[in-house]
Amino acid sequence: RTLRIGLIPGDGIGKEVIPAGRRILEALPASLGLKFEFTPLEAGFETFERTGAALPDATVEVLRSGCDGALFGAVSSPSHPVKGYSSPIVALRKKLDLYANVRPVKSVIPATATASSSSSPIKPVDMVIVRENTEDLYVKEEKTFDGPQGRVAEAVKRISERASHRIAAMAGEIALRRQNIRAAGTPSIHASPLVTITHKSNVLSQTDGLFRTTARAALAAPRFASVAVEEQIVDSMVYKLFRQPEAYDVIVAPNLYGDILSDGAAALVGSLGLVPSANVGEGFAIGEPCHGSAPDIQGQGIANPIATLRSTALMLEFLEEEAAAARIYAAVDANLAEGKLLSPDLGGTAKTDEVVEDILRRL
Ligand code: NAI
Ligand code: MG
Repeated sequence: RTLRIGLIPGDGIGKEVIPAGRRILEALPASLGLKFEFTPLEAGFETFERTGAALPDATVEVLRSGCDGALFGAVSSPSHPVKGYSSPIVALRKKLDLYANVRPVKSVIPATATASSSSSPIKPVDMVIVRENTEDLYVKEEKTFDGPQGRVAEAVKRISERASHRIAAMAGEIALRRQNIRAAGTPSIHASPLVTITHKSNVLSQTDGLFRTTARAALAAPRFASVAVEEQIVDSMVYKLFRQPEAYDVIVAPNLYGDILSDGAAALVGSLGLVPSANVGEGFAIGEPCHGSAPDIQGQGIANPIATLRSTALMLEFLEEEAAAARIYAAVDANLAEGKLLSPDLGGTAKTDEVVEDILRRL
């Protein structure tokens, strides 16, 4: 099978880490039967300054008609508003209906660890946050008006059955797939799949209530018979996420809670340079490291490539190439578990390329 992959480095260290994603795809063993065709594509602030468009139409067209998936580095957003500029990744999510934002957060886990055997004060973390990406308060229908007590601002929180159903079903699929990836020998603290539905339906009984009941119904499908399902109110979820992160496998949440939980969870593992994400729609996925363009370290060749390598594996998962994804995760985990060739954000002295080469060797 040949996969056509768009490469969108963007700005800053995006240009230094996206080549690592390409290299690891090219280094996958031939026995997996995968070939890749790469198309370099433009987006970002530099592109905007040169062409007047942060997300050129040509980029969207090639992704739509000529690619199976893509890797997106990072873009710089000016801190002052610039006329005509808006974030290309936000626009891409809309244009390609990438309705799920998937963020795995995993700490370094020794090959033999299980949740129950861990007595170390540092809690092992191995979870995926699945965030609905199209609605909730992010429909951005806001207004401000004069009321009897002065200015009032209001925002619409929209939750639909369709979006809630498809995001919950995706969480279920991810839980099943993680089980396969564990079976392929990737160390994990979880023995069996669990999905936690997050909401605040005790207060927002209609909107979050609809999310909750729809997610429950989606996960009750026979296909998810082996997946345990529980729910948790979002505020107590934050408490438990920090006290007992090992309790979570897959978390599914409406847009706003998912946004907050996923940044919070990323803080549990030490460096932004480790945390991947994917933007996923029907039959299309864009892998994207969670970090930004990191102007403070750009051009020094010391950016941690692991977030991008894991994002590359995540993209492969959504292109139904679990076996290839499992290889990449295992190679990254082995590099981290040994702890000898680490980039400066993890306390090491290795350059980006040295980390990549160590991981390629393990692959
Ligand atoms: P940032 O994620 O770029 O950097 C935060 C800190 O983490 C910096 O100290 C940086 O050196 C470090 N860091 C990030 N990635 C790293 C890696 N792979 N290896 C080693 N260290 C790493 O966030 P910041 O500084 O708030 O934003 C910088 C620019 O990036 C801004 O223009 C911002 O708008 C943009 N940004 C873009 C994002 C995206 O494209 N999705 C997400 C976040 C920020
Ligand atoms: Mg965020």
